[in-house]
Amino acid sequence: MKTPGVTIRKLLQMKRDRQPIAMLTAYDAAFAHLLDRCGIDCILVGDSLGNVIQGRDSTVPVTLADMAYHVACVRRGTDRALLIADLPFLSYSDVGQAIRSAKRLMQAGAEMVKLEGGAAVLDAVAILSRLGVPVCGHLGLTPQSVHQLSGYRVQGRTPDEQQRLIEDAAALEKAGASMLVVECIPDALASRLTEAAGIPVIGIGAGRGVDGQVLVLYDALGLNAGQAPRFVRDFASGADSLESAIAGYIDAVRGGEFPGPGESYDD
Ligand code: KIV
Repeated sequence: MKTPGVTIRKLLQMKRDRQPIAMLTAYDAAFAHLLDRCGIDCILVGDSLGNVIQGRDSTVPVTLADMAYHVACVRRGTDRALLIADLPFLSYSDVGQAIRSAKRLMQAGAEMVKLEGGAAVLDAVAILSRLGVPVCGHLGLTPQSVHQLSGYRVQGRTPDEQQRLIEDAAALEKAGASMLVVECIPDALASRLTEAAGIPVIGIGAGRGVDGQVLVLYDALGLNAGQAPRFVRDFASGADSLESAIAGYIDAVRGGEFPGPGESYDD
């Protein structure tokens, strides 16, 4: 049984206290244990495992069985941090399927599920949160829609897109979401969403005006195979151990020093 650790209530209090929330992904027990020991607030078993563990081009091929396996591994290494798991591609396209998929990941050890999208997922968010499953929304660059988005591109650049994202964020919260991840959107838009939101907003490539930061663990450790996006910082460079690299990330987030200038999108 998990010792009393990070809860949704605590994350809400951190938002209110303007205490930045530090989140990283993990996919196995050893890294989960390391992150937990270093004091990370949230561990995300991201479907980014499709890219970094399975070597695929996108998260689209990741299955529910893949996710359940990695959630169970991470659960065994996590004691204190809140464990969030991604519902994979098209595993929540109707409410019945969303319930079955969330059940599988929660029973594997997740404490919250994350799903991508706005208006299209509101029914799933509403039913899951009514049934006692905490939900994290994910807006902006939503990797499961990479083909529809024509690639991995910054979102929310036009006034119409910005308006839609603001409406989606409000609708997700109203439907019952407990947290929101925003990916690759301009800083000013992310700050606006965060100010308006009553729930914690965690950014990746969304500047400093959010309630917390998340990175893919392997990116934060400099293990990015190709050209790293501008919001990635290699915390292993210059660190003398994995532990100090992770501690460096957590300190930089908590100290408001990450992301720095040039590590987000101004417009
Ligand atoms: O899958 C993932 O790791 C994610 C983060 C990048 C937010 O969704």
